[in-house]
Amino acid sequence: MTQKIALVTGGMGGIGTAICKRLAEAGHRVVTTYSTPGKHADWQARMREQGFDIATYQCDVSNFDSCASMVKRVRDELGPVGILVNNAGITRDGRMQKMEKSAWDDVLRTNLDSVFNVTRQVLDDMCEANWGRVINISSINGQKGQFGQTNYSAAKAGVHGFSMALAQEVAKKGITVNTISPGYIGTEMVMAVKEEVRNQIIAGIPVGRLGKPEEIAALVAFIASDDASFMTGANIAMNGGQHMC
Ligand code: CAA
Ligand code: NAP
Repeated sequence: MTQKIALVTGGMGGIGTAICKRLAEAGHRVVTTYSTPGKHADWQARMREQGFDIATYQCDVSNFDSCASMVKRVRDELGPVGILVNNAGITRDGRMQKMEKSAWDDVLRTNLDSVFNVTRQVLDDMCEANWGRVINISSINGQKGQFGQTNYSAAKAGVHGFSMALAQEVAKKGITVNTISPGYIGTEMVMAVKEEVRNQIIAGIPVGRLGKPEEIAALVAFIASDDASFMTGANIAMNGGQHMC
């Protein structure tokens, strides 16, 4: 497969780091974003030590203009994006009756608006190239709902609605749009859940453990490859059997 520019949002997080490495191993020129100022230096140094040269750009994915200027810089400095992995995301858990408006807004903007904000910037180039991959990272909790996550479950369900609609619009242009719905993966996001609650969740996973970021990354690499050209509008679950549909 020819080398593409692969843009992974939130690539310095648990799942994002594994995705960046896996796409780099597949031969792509990988670019990632961070929103916390200064975060990139240590991460990039660690990647270099491991043999990965990954370009980094600051961007707030919840802000349309920030995404526009980030993608413009990527295009000017490296070239047009061929593979986009919309991975950046946050949680602000709490029961609906206790949920502040800001927790709703932050989660919807970061997890759902972001998918529009970034994809909108790369689609014209993909259409022109007659090839593209948009891979949206949703969640098991967008498929089944989760106590304490009305905001997150709504955003993540919305992500797959976006994938299904866009998949139809761009299928003739050689662009596929797919959703991955991971179950609980061992990253900071899951470690932020109280230990007692987390242990109850793990007890409900038939495979008996949390997933690994590398397992999600392997699926991303497959969807990004030419072998997956006939897969579009799909929502692929990888959740240790916690939810089957
Ligand atoms: N089902 C039913 N009842 C539940 C419940 C559940 N899953 N979880 C809590 N409750 C009940 C408690 O039993 C308690 O009931 P009583 O008042 O009758 O005793 C009540 O809810 C407690 O409510 P509080 O508002 O006081 O909640 P809390 O401070 O205990 O915390 C919570 C609530 C934040 C939702 C906490 O339970 C929690 O963190 N749950 C896990 C949420 C979760 O799965 N988050 C995933 C984060 S990782 C991620 O999102 C990645 C991904 O995509 C998978
Ligand atoms: P993580 O380790 O917390 O990483 C999240 C990443 O998102 C960070 O790199 C963070 O970068 C970035 N981010 C957050 N807000 C941003 C913003 N406004 N603009 C730009 N980047 C932003 O989380 P993770 O577990 O790897 O999760 C990655 C994705 O998988 C998320 O979409 C998550 O919802 C989804 N997911 C996770 C699990 C799981 O169990 N872990 C399960 C299902 C789905 P900064 O710190 O620089 O902001």
